[in-house]
Amino acid sequence: MSQNLPRGAAVLGVGAYRPPRVVDNEEICRSIDSSDEWIRTRSGITSRRWAEDDETLDVMATGAATGALADAGVDPAALGMVLVATCTDPQPVRPLAVRVAAALGTEVPALTINATCAGFCYGLGVARDLVRAGTAEHVLVVGAERLTDITDHQDRATAFIFADGSGAFVVGRAEEEGVGPVVWGSDGARGEVLGLAPDWAAFRRDPALGRPAIEMQGRRVFKWAAEQMPKVAEAACKAAGVTLADVDVFVPHQANQRITEAMVKALQLPASVVVADDIATAGNTSSASIPLALHRLRTEGRARPGDRALLIGFGGGLVYAAQVITVP
Ligand code: UT7
Repeated sequence: MSQNLPRGAAVLGVGAYRPPRVVDNEEICRSIDSSDEWIRTRSGITSRRWAEDDETLDVMATGAATGALADAGVDPAALGMVLVATCTDPQPVRPLAVRVAAALGTEVPALTINATCAGFCYGLGVARDLVRAGTAEHVLVVGAERLTDITDHQDRATAFIFADGSGAFVVGRAEEEGVGPVVWGSDGARGEVLGLAPDWAAFRRDPALGRPAIEMQGRRVFKWAAEQMPKVAEAACKAAGVTLADVDVFVPHQANQRITEAMVKALQLPASVVVADDIATAGNTSSASIPLALHRLRTEGRARPGDRALLIGFGGGLVYAAQVITVP
């Protein structure tokens, strides 16, 4: 029977949750020695969204998931798996994916993934394979983060970058392949450039060390991303059987607008390619940034159904993942 079913996988719907609270650079500069001009020119960020206390990861992830399901016209009961990417879940022993599944009213298998800023593309890669293998008919993939919980708001190296939000896709069976093979990997030997300091174990032994917060050697992360990620993006196109000339929309992880520009230059993407710039008003939302950015491009009509979009996530670990999708 299953031999007659389509074996392709496609993105069927996209959803987003953006906390209403807008935090501009002036507000950030009340806590760090910086300026609106420095932040805009070095990162491309003019404002970002911060979640209020009651905007938990659960609220944001479920909001984005509900939007993606509605956009896809898929009932939660039709899901075969819920995958949620996050690196900021404060309750990992009751995994976020299971909480989201329960909030959606379903008891399907649910798995939380931590691949930091590449987490959404990791989830999408797994979802594609689950659908193509016939393990699940529909898979929900969510990226959700409250990075403000693990940011030192007095640290001028990180306070202006990180933010909160969630984005989601529904992936399902399709006649035509709409999600290309994922190209992914890790580079743990270089992982010390980004992490929590102190880590939770050290903090527990000695609370005087202060609460764990993100510590980043920004310049080294920047160099790694700008130099290595174009090769990964190119490999994702090759794996999907397309060339860079076939790409209509480029949606890299929204880490820094200058990293995006460096990748566009290295890949020699023509001016006709629509390049995601959600970081300007969303900041860096780690695993949520790619679905949030695509959601905005679709809403604004800059990415249209049938467009070919190249996605690439990269971040702490270090980890990376990329694939080509067809915009629903
Ligand atoms: O999500 C995935 C992981 N994260 C990333 O991909 C982020 C990657 N890195 C970056 O985006 C950039 O490295 C930053 C935006 C974080 C920093 O930009 P940068 O151009 O790499 O700045 P820098 O750290 O090299 O610092 C340049 C100068 C330094 O001054 P001197 O030594 O040139 O006099 C810093 O002290 O800017 C100074 N600086 C600041 N000035 C004003 C550093 N932070 C600030 C600040 N405001 N907030």
